[in-house]
Amino acid sequence: MDNRPILFFDSGIGGLSVVKEARILLPGRPYVYVADDAAFPYGAWEEEALLERMVGLFAELLATYRPVMSVIACNTASTLAIHRLRETFPQEIFVGTVPAIKPAAERTRSGLVSVLATPGTVKRQYTRDLIRDYAARCHVRLVGSENLAALAEQYMREGFVDEAAVETEIAPCFVEQDGRRTDIVVLACTHYPFLVNRMRKTAPWPVDWIDTSEAIARRAQTLASSLPPAGPMESEDIAHFTSGKPPEALRRLLLGFGFRPEAG
Ligand code: DGL
Repeated sequence: MDNRPILFFDSGIGGLSVVKEARILLPGRPYVYVADDAAFPYGAWEEEALLERMVGLFAELLATYRPVMSVIACNTASTLAIHRLRETFPQEIFVGTVPAIKPAAERTRSGLVSVLATPGTVKRQYTRDLIRDYAARCHVRLVGSENLAALAEQYMREGFVDEAAVETEIAPCFVEQDGRRTDIVVLACTHYPFLVNRMRKTAPWPVDWIDTSEAIARRAQTLASSLPPAGPMESEDIAHFTSGKPPEALRRLLLGFGFRPEAG
């Protein structure tokens, strides 16, 4: 029996979109949710500074929670730091989250695909390499959104989001070229699935929105299947916020996802 938790990590509450799927595919294991909200949004960070922050933070998190596996439920963090984390902590298991460019390239009929992500993710060499390796025959538009992750946080906290603001952020994803139109938008930030209904509503035409949450949870499930099973659960799952304490408005949401916020 191994009752060490699976750790889910994001800059905020976007990683809960992955937890939602993992709760279905991987029940019966303890979870810890970590939001580096003191540093939110990651999308705006300079690469070297964010790498340094993440490696330092993981040294602490791994020592504190001793996870059986860490799911980096954040594209902005994974595309930057997944290789470095694996090199620095070679005995640990990490699951990354990266833009679903390969499935988008396989599915598009028009050949016009957009990748909606944070400004950090669209700048990454990792993202450019995925396009070169898997989508060379498509026209891929990278759309770096300054505000969508924060809008998703606001929506999850307050249950309200300014639809006109969502419309403005997604508008550059929609391209018309030689009688063809974008038919796939990759949601390359774990915050975005929470806004997908608003995106559908404000989009100028229907597209497929690719959300990787289930695929990430499935990868974690596969890796977990070769680990010793967990015994009876002894304690509640914890949510840790690096700012010390999650905002009051998030407590109910976290409880709904099965997490007790750690006292600051
Ligand atoms: N949830 C994060 C991602 O998947 C990013 C949000 C942020 O900018 O911190 O990219």
